[in-house]
Amino acid sequence: MAGACPPELAAAVAAAGGMGAAGVVNDTPETIAGWAARFRALAGPAPFQLNLWVPDPPADDDVGLQTAYLDTLGGTPAPAGGPGPSFDEQLAAVVAARPTVVSTIMGLLTAEQVTAVHGAGCAWFATVTTRAEAVAAQRAGADAVVVQGMEAGGHRGTADPADAEAVSVGLLALLPWVADAVDVPVVAAGAVGDGRALAAALTLGASAVQVGTALLRSPEAGIDEGWSARLDGLDPTGTTTTRAYTGRLARGIATDFVRAWTLPGAPPPAPYPHQRRLVARYRAGEPGAVDRVNLWAGQAAGRATTDPRRRWSAGCGAMRRRCCREPGSVPGGVHHVVELPLLGAVDERRDLVRGVDQHRPLGVAGVADGDLAVVEYGELHGPPVRGPGRATPRHGAQICCARAVRVGHGGPPDVSAASV
Ligand SMILES: Cc1cc2nc3c(=O)[nH]c(=O)nc-3n(C[C@H](O)[C@H](O)[C@H](O)COP(=O)(O)O)c2cc1C
Repeated sequence: MAGACPPELAAAVAAAGGMGAAGVVNDTPETIAGWAARFRALAGPAPFQLNLWVPDPPADDDVGLQTAYLDTLGGTPAPAGGPGPSFDEQLAAVVAARPTVVSTIMGLLTAEQVTAVHGAGCAWFATVTTRAEAVAAQRAGADAVVVQGMEAGGHRGTADPADAEAVSVGLLALLPWVADAVDVPVVAAGAVGDGRALAAALTLGASAVQVGTALLRSPEAGIDEGWSARLDGLDPTGTTTTRAYTGRLARGIATDFVRAWTLPGAPPPAPYPHQRRLVARYRAGEPGAVDRVNLWAGQAAGRATTDPRRRWSAGCGAMRRRCCREPGSVPGGVHHVVELPLLGAVDERRDLVRGVDQHRPLGVAGVADGDLAVVEYGELHGPPVRGPGRATPRHGAQICCARAVRVGHGGPPDVSAASV
């Protein structure tokens, strides 16, 4: 989550068994190296992910209309800054940092870039918003696809920037559509805010979930109090999509600034990255000016909480969906495995169990006493085992055949570890 992903948040995610991440689209190579060093100082060898935006094709940089319109909204623009680091420089810094996963959004890596990523021992996760994008990503060498539904907070990852509004598909429809089309693991993103949503994502073919907005109110995320307060109990109707901040379509709270760009007479926002650079020149909080600070939020923002007992710390996990039969398993049962890092989230456990119960025949809810949750489809093989990394059958769950899945450093995601 660019702008809301300090190493402290990623380390908290790691401590809970998930994979922390940083969106480094705005960062210099030095900042990227510093983030990775700080993460390692906090979390040791734990897996982590660095995320980059693939640049859009060059677009018209005439921002005269937009500048004039911004002037009507008050505030004094700062002088234009330099162009910032290039994508190639950023990617080189990311690869040099050797994260477990290099993830991308807004397009695909070239074959040469994929080779560099894999050569550094990193997996490549590509964000997709359509089935065609997912198939293209797999063909290009992606080790997993992050399927982003239109519910998601922040920017839409649609490869063609012009398509973003038209390609507005919800996760419920998109996930099974993509999962049936690719062989690589599928990570679900968009409004996954509690265990019920997790269970639904697994049922629909995901192997893991990527959580953004639900983590924003964690103390470690460090967003300002005003933004956090606006997320508190936010109804799903409380967000909208806009190009006003960056020129790329993104979901956030409908601020006065967002509304201003929908008024009669407002010009269309300039294309990315020109709108982003332009808006960034106008400082926030100037008296009499419309505040320019973006408040990104997905449609499940109301699930975000500051309460550490209920807080998700999922980040992006990388798991492989497996289709297998084991003695006594449900015939043809598909084993869905997920590592759901929870910070002692008692309420979330209930959500998970309820979600699973609602989604029969996904018949297993196993939640570790520590931080690992596993959901599978099968029958109970032996007595339940309690303890970190082990699944425990909950009330109402018939089955427990659990397997922990982790992503190791230095290779594509694999399936391994404990089973009970
Ligand atoms: C504040 C914020 C910043 C984000 N920045 C990025 C980013 O830089 N790169 C990226 O791939 N996704 C980014 N995302 C999107 C997330 O990766 C993910 O798709 C999304 O948060 C999932 O939906 P949810 O917010 O409903 O959980 C961002 C999301 C938020 C809320």
